[in-house]
Amino acid sequence: MLVLGIESTCDETACAIVEDGKKILSNVVSSQIDLHREFGGVVPELSCRRHIDVMLSVVDQALNEASVTLDEIDLIAAAYGPGLIGALLIGLNTAKTLALTLQKPFIGVNHIEAHLYAALMDQPQDSLFPCIGAVLSGGHTSLIRINALGDYTPISETVDDAIGEAFDKVAKILNLPYPGGPEIEKLAKTGNPERFPLKAGRVKERPLHFSFSGIKTGVLYTCQNHQITEHQDKCDLAASFQTTAFADIVKKTLRAANDEECSTIVLGGGVTNNRYLRTLFAKEAPEHRILWPKPELTLDNAAMIAGLGYHRYRFKGVSDPLTLEAATRIARM
Ligand code: KG4
Ligand code: ZN
Repeated sequence: MLVLGIESTCDETACAIVEDGKKILSNVVSSQIDLHREFGGVVPELSCRRHIDVMLSVVDQALNEASVTLDEIDLIAAAYGPGLIGALLIGLNTAKTLALTLQKPFIGVNHIEAHLYAALMDQPQDSLFPCIGAVLSGGHTSLIRINALGDYTPISETVDDAIGEAFDKVAKILNLPYPGGPEIEKLAKTGNPERFPLKAGRVKERPLHFSFSGIKTGVLYTCQNHQITEHQDKCDLAASFQTTAFADIVKKTLRAANDEECSTIVLGGGVTNNRYLRTLFAKEAPEHRILWPKPELTLDNAAMIAGLGYHRYRFKGVSDPLTLEAATRIARM
């Protein structure tokens, strides 16, 4: 089955063609980083306008690179949320229009679930479940027990900032360009994480929940109190932030894996690009099987949407209604 997937939840316009949920024939991503960089973060109105400008040529490119025509597509999938409302509407309406005019089934995909699927895509599915999923992205940070594809039990989430958002805000405090994650990672490589002690947030009576707004404020106060001006000061502060935040994530993820008796951990979202995070998991959890998305599937992309769309359609057996609405938030996967 050939699935055409569309992603437009935030600042990437993407289209991919995926066969049977796993074979990626094309995976085109048009990033808007250049557009938002001067504002230090995503500007929703600009994001929608860019999605409109590039959507059709991104779809064309995905079809061309896969050497597939629209007639050969069996299913159209699109991320219906969570995300920015205006941005979501562009991708969702493109998908619905294609489905309606081509008379093909349409399926709406949850973007967060798709981030986890990115790491499962090339795995044999039989011995994977149950496992612990950790979503580490710019908009979301949560731990989920994956009982099977499509069957999830939420464990915990952030009560304030998402981890990627915290990276972006700390980068802004340090006068680094958007997106902040890769910039912080680069500086942290030559930084001393012990020089400026920081603390990860604890949530009262919910030991597996996350809180990153306190550590972000800790970085701000350190800057105000210590005159962080030299390059090495920034490296030390970046290293302290990254080490403290990731130690918290690894500790809570392993605790969830232990509580739920799961030996496999699946990670997803843009922050999984971080090499230090990958090394830390390998070091702290040598006995667990840790599944990471391939580099091209870490950030927002449509291959994960098309891939998961295939499974959602197979479970459901019918098309989603074309009245399916875009959702800025989705309460439960
Ligand atoms: O998954 P994603 O593309 O978008 C959302 O669904 O939110 O993730 C984007 C986030 C940004 O906050 C970015 O700073 C972060 O991922 N990120 C990183 C790295 N690369 C991207 N964070 C830490 N280290 C990185 N190397
Ligand atoms: Zn995402």
